[in-house]
Amino acid sequence: MYCVKQITPDLYYVGASDHRQPLFEAAHPIPDGVSYNNYVLVDEKTVLMDTADRAVSEVFFENVARALDGRALDYIVVQHMEPDHSASLARALRLYPDAQVVCTAKALTMIGQFTGLDIAGRARVVKEGDTLETGRHTLKFMLAPMVHWPEVMVTYDMTDHTLFSADAFGHFGALDGALFADEVDFIRDYLDEARRYYANIVGKYGAPVQGLLKKAAALQIDRICPLHGFLWRRDFDKIIEKYDLWSRYQPEVQGVLIACASVYGNTMNAASIVAAGLRDQGVPCALYDVSATDPSYILAEAFKYSHLLLASPTYNNGVFVKMENLLHDVAAHTLANRTVFMIQNGSWAPTAAAGMKAILEGLKGFTFAEPVLTLKSALSAGQAAEVDAFVNAIVESAGGKA
Ligand code: FEO
Repeated sequence: MYCVKQITPDLYYVGASDHRQPLFEAAHPIPDGVSYNNYVLVDEKTVLMDTADRAVSEVFFENVARALDGRALDYIVVQHMEPDHSASLARALRLYPDAQVVCTAKALTMIGQFTGLDIAGRARVVKEGDTLETGRHTLKFMLAPMVHWPEVMVTYDMTDHTLFSADAFGHFGALDGALFADEVDFIRDYLDEARRYYANIVGKYGAPVQGLLKKAAALQIDRICPLHGFLWRRDFDKIIEKYDLWSRYQPEVQGVLIACASVYGNTMNAASIVAAGLRDQGVPCALYDVSATDPSYILAEAFKYSHLLLASPTYNNGVFVKMENLLHDVAAHTLANRTVFMIQNGSWAPTAAAGMKAILEGLKGFTFAEPVLTLKSALSAGQAAEVDAFVNAIVESAGGKA
């Protein structure tokens, strides 16, 4: 059965949340689910904003029908062609044969690629600044390429000051009956998943996100309606300030993400001792075992903290495989402006530090700090002073008490 929420007198939420898929994009765990957001505007003309993932298509179509309440659908606005928003498009085109598709030229090409359909005859291709009059409302389309694919546009309702923001400002996590971010304690309960969504989905595209933020700053915005996660109708700075930091690759916290690989526990022992020393001197830190925690979480923490402490055994004369995978993920998402400290372990030929540096050294604004703490199989009692000096170097760099 349908589950529709009214946003304004003529705007309806017709999206749905999914709790069943274990992975988003077949890559990122979503233990708390995810929402696929859609909106129907009921004006003199009717407009559907995007379609939905297959996982929620049944309730999505019930919701659309409920919101239309017997009216024909005049327009389907396609802001983004990634299949989490377009897998139901072909069915929507069949169900609503008179609906015109409003999209960018790049999206039109992708519609053909994904569906095998030539819809040029029922498409209205829009460019930056084009508008669509629907009666009381005027919708203005603004291109947002690479937030998160090249065909993306966002839509601004000039009448009610609603920004339909596509993937921007989304987060992982189902909505579970709420609709607006101010209905929950967003910072306490959802910010981490917003950061993880940002870092993993849009993190590589900081400059395009900055471009979108600049466009948004010029608008009067009364509500933000993203394609995932809660809608915003107040406290916009809570999410926009974070997006500004993340997209400029500036840390939120002066502190240390400790990512540790440890085959038999000796490298983790060293990382834990260093973490204790950092805590003792007032430096915030978070420690993850890269074999136990999905990289999507650790990448998000790398976006949060100013410093990275990477600890890895030497493995096949290089970096331990789980750490290697994580660091390639960090590099692929073009994180910038971080200071890196390293611990390496090697029973006969420690080379992990050089290997870790080689993966990351092309990143903009990355500094590789000295000293590197080297273990030969395990920390020895004779290394206590060396560990203290290592901790103090991090504290000094990260701005703790020392
Ligand atoms: Fe939510 Fe890039 O799709």
